[in-house]
Amino acid sequence: MELSELVRFLHVLALALFVGGQLTLVIAIVPVLRGEPDEVMLAVARRFGIASAVAIAVVLGTGIAMASHFSRWEDETLQAKLAVLVLVAVLTGLHIATPRSRVVSLSLIVASPFVVWLGVVLTH
Ligand code: HEM
Repeated sequence: MELSELVRFLHVLALALFVGGQLTLVIAIVPVLRGEPDEVMLAVARRFGIASAVAIAVVLGTGIAMASHFSRWEDETLQAKLAVLVLVAVLTGLHIATPRSRVVSLSLIVASPFVVWLGVVLTH
C-alpha cells in the first residue's frame, strides 16, 4: 500500500465514523433511547463525542496532507467543502451547547453528508 493510499483510507474511515455515526444516532439510537433516563443518552453522546473529536483530527490531518500532495488548495470544490466544514463545526458547537435543539441537530444531519458529497466531487 502506498502512503497516499493509506492517507486516503484513513480520511474515508474517519469521515465514515463521524458522518455515519451521526446518521446512526438519528436513525437508530436517539428514537429508542428517548424514553430512557437522561444518563443513558448522555453516556452515548459522551462516547460519540470523543470518537468524533478523534475522527475530525484524523480527517483534518489527512485532508491537509492530500490537499498539499495533490496541490488542491486552489480548487473551488475544496474551498466550498472547507466552508461547509466550518458550518458543521459551528453547528457541532451549538449542538453541544443546546443538545435538545431539533433545528441544530437536523441542520447538522443535513450539512455533514454534504461535505461527503463535495469530497466525492473533489476526487472524481
Ligand atoms: C468531515 C469532514 C470531511 C469529509 C466528510 C470529507 C470527505 C471526503 C471524501 C468522501 C473524499 C473522497 C474520497 C475518495 O473517493 O477517494 C475526500 C477526499 C479529499 N478530501 Fe475530504 N473530507 C473532509 C474533510 C477534509 C478536509 C478538512 C480537507 C482539507 C483540508 C479535505 C481534503 C480532501 C482532499 C484533498 C481529498 C482528495 C482529493 C483528490 O483525490 O484529489 N477533506 N474527502
